Amino acid sequence: MAAAGSAVGLGNIWKFPYETGANGGGAFLLLYLLFIVVFGASLILAEMVLGRASGQNPVGAFRSLGGGRWPLVGYLGVFTGFVILSFYIVIAGWTIAYMGFMLDGSLISGDAESIGAKFSAFISGGATPVLLAGLFMIATVIVVLGGIGKGIERASKLLMPVLFVLLLVLIARSVSLPGAGEGLRFFLVPDWSKVDGGTFTSAIGQAFFSLSLGMGALITYGSYLPKTTPMPGSAAIIVGLDTLVALLAGFMILPAVFAYGLDPAAGPGLTFVTLPVVFSQMPAGAIFGFVFFALLFVAALTSAVSLLEVVVTYLVDETRLTRRPAALIAGCICFGLGVPSSLSQGAVDIQIFGMDFLTAAASLTDLLLPIGGLCTALFVGWKLGPKSVALVTNNGTQRFALATVWLFILRFVAPIGIAYVLISGML
Ligand code: TRP
Repeated sequence: MAAAGSAVGLGNIWKFPYETGANGGGAFLLLYLLFIVVFGASLILAEMVLGRASGQNPVGAFRSLGGGRWPLVGYLGVFTGFVILSFYIVIAGWTIAYMGFMLDGSLISGDAESIGAKFSAFISGGATPVLLAGLFMIATVIVVLGGIGKGIERASKLLMPVLFVLLLVLIARSVSLPGAGEGLRFFLVPDWSKVDGGTFTSAIGQAFFSLSLGMGALITYGSYLPKTTPMPGSAAIIVGLDTLVALLAGFMILPAVFAYGLDPAAGPGLTFVTLPVVFSQMPAGAIFGFVFFALLFVAALTSAVSLLEVVVTYLVDETRLTRRPAALIAGCICFGLGVPSSLSQGAVDIQIFGMDFLTAAASLTDLLLPIGGLCTALFVGWKLGPKSVALVTNNGTQRFALATVWLFILRFVAPIGIAYVLISGML
């Protein structure tokens, strides 16, 4: 359940709809689903087995099971964790602001255009979004210091079903708006003329991001698993839940985007503009809106915790730091990296690689996660080889019907497929 909490987050509800919108709709959806099915489930299991077999952080796991240069894959993961968390806290900070905006009604009055203008004014406001990112970072540090599996796990077990129901309510609202059909068509009917190498990179990046895959989060969580936990089933549940929530978010956002005449390719602001318009035009919208963003905040927190946990377990295991200073230092560095991300949304013109800082960090992630996944596949498929099946089944005491398929995917399909996608993206 903790791993599912890690997977379900802003990636599903914020990133997935806007990526789908920006990448042409149905074709992106199909590619994303393809990557989830072909690479996702197998790699989740691969990460979990590395964690359980070693009982260690990503760097330690690759060192103790492989040695040589393999720990570099772990270091790459820790680095990727910093990059993701730095912009994740910025978006999560927006959800805090939105709880307030729903309550005071300031964002849910007026038409789509004026709501869009208020959103832009907020994210380019300088100090407030930066402070909220800091607040979210503090919340994450506090949860990590409290240990995994206590309050937060209980809370998310209770709250995630509520989020699920709320998504269904909002989908009903969204698809029944006049003009919603065009959005459904956009989401579900592939238009291959809109696909290029960049679509491939975005789709694979989204698949990995959404599943929390490719940087060792699942290695870290796997290290807490008892030998008796049947892992293939757990991997399937994580994939199923995460993909379901992403699809629901698509059905919630995209029909409304078309019904209200918004631009599906608007980028990171899409969810944050579309939903207030939906809430502004439904009965008790302010209350629904508040509850929705509160739940999104919790979903983001359970995800951010898994990112910080990777960095913290690494620091605790591999350096002399104890847990508390490790969490504080990592939190400060992430926040420091998050400041330019936040400011780049309109307050200050901060560009790298011709993109604003936040978009650049997110794009870098789309590249780093699949690379991490590729290395993990090679490691488990070839370096550990058939031994990894014994590790999954706890020396044959548990069933794993698809063991041969799994090993085949890790050895051939995933390395070749991921390399192909990344290279075609670069070309
Ligand atoms: N999967 C989370 C989301 O969808 C984000 C996340 C948490 C993540 N931990 C991760 C992404 C590790 C990549 C790697 O919001």
